[in-house]
Amino acid sequence: MTERIMHYVPVDIIYRFMRDFFVKVGTPEDDAAICADVMIASDLRGIESHGIGRLRYYYNRIISGQHDVKTPMQVVRDGATTAVIDGNHGLGMVISKRAMQMAIEKARVHGMASVAVRNSTHFGIAGYYPMMAVEQGMIGLTVTNSRPSMSPTFGVEPLLGTNPIAFGAPTDEPFPFIFDAATPIAQRGKIEVLARNGEEIPDGWVIDSKGRTVTSPAVAMASFEKRQASFLPLGGAGETLSGHKGFGLGTMVEILSASLQTGSFLTDLSGVDASGNPQPFRIGHYFLAINIENFTDLETFKLTTGNILRQLRNSNKEPGQSRIYTAGEKEFEKEKEVRAKGIKIIPKLQDDIVFLRDRLELSEIAFPF
Ligand SMILES: NC(=O)c1ccc[n+]([C@@H]2O[C@H](COP(=O)([O-])OP(=O)(O)OC[C@H]3O[C@@H](n4cnc5c(N)ncnc54)[C@H](O)[C@@H]3O)[C@@H](O)[C@H]2O)c1
Repeated sequence: MTERIMHYVPVDIIYRFMRDFFVKVGTPEDDAAICADVMIASDLRGIESHGIGRLRYYYNRIISGQHDVKTPMQVVRDGATTAVIDGNHGLGMVISKRAMQMAIEKARVHGMASVAVRNSTHFGIAGYYPMMAVEQGMIGLTVTNSRPSMSPTFGVEPLLGTNPIAFGAPTDEPFPFIFDAATPIAQRGKIEVLARNGEEIPDGWVIDSKGRTVTSPAVAMASFEKRQASFLPLGGAGETLSGHKGFGLGTMVEILSASLQTGSFLTDLSGVDASGNPQPFRIGHYFLAINIENFTDLETFKLTTGNILRQLRNSNKEPGQSRIYTAGEKEFEKEKEVRAKGIKIIPKLQDDIVFLRDRLELSEIAFPF
């Protein structure tokens, strides 16, 4: 038997495959392009968990009826600087791009604006949406709640989601400051990547219902489904390394993602009903855009922010370390590499692509496997 190899596939091929996938399942072309755009941004930034690696999940959720392939979103409240959107279980990436665009347009007129969304679905990487604001010379902030998987400090029950926070600001450098991370120590996508690569989960990321560490990705994923495992908050177990701060940040995200929009929260976001049958996820998001020009001129802001980041990066290094990074920097460098080399597709992911290509008759897209 020949050993299967990893392939690097050009970005435009993966983009086209994802876009055509959404069109094939019935998504309107413009919306399909938005989904492919958000997902390819993840692959380009080296976030392997939320790009092409997620397509099979979206397919499963579409066929189980958890995501509507069309996006019948409605603006249910509309103010000068605020709005509330009901996503009606459409595609989270489409709802979110439109919601952030709305926040940006209102912020351009009024200085700052925010939009809260309920009844949405998974929106991909949170960092995509603040990047939209940064492109318009604004600060952007996005948070979302998600399926319950993180326990509170001193608890063992998965209640909070991996609830990421993403914040972006323009700088005078070739790349913006983009901080985009989940509020537990790790998020499900990282466990999926470990599983695909045949690696173990580091100690202290995931605990079982007795508080013992879980290191097998397969056991963790199966136990998450049964609510018998959870992620620990940023900072880890207890208070010694400030796990309570990760718990607080995750709760803050839950409030912004649920309370302003009269949305669902915690265990109501599990995607299954009381009998275990799939149901919509009812995810909530929150988008904030701040127009910098209402505070100071954009160039001065960029210079100040660039100076902050440069001072941090140029500070003395820990022994053995040659470099300090600021958020968004690694992803900027990764994007150049991925554009030149292509997107890494490991054998397990090749299987997912082949499955979807055959199932949806997308054979005109040429993959090297
Ligand atoms: N939609 C959802 O429900 C959902 C849920 C959880 C996570 N996510 C997404 O998953 C992705 C990954 O999240 P994560 O928590 O695994 O991220 P992570 O732990 O890889 O952290 C990434 C962030 O840390 C910064 N960073 C990395 N190394 C650094 C260093 N040495 N110094 C300074 N900054 C550094 C990066 O620039 C980036 O902003 C994110 O895009 C997030 O939005 C989505």
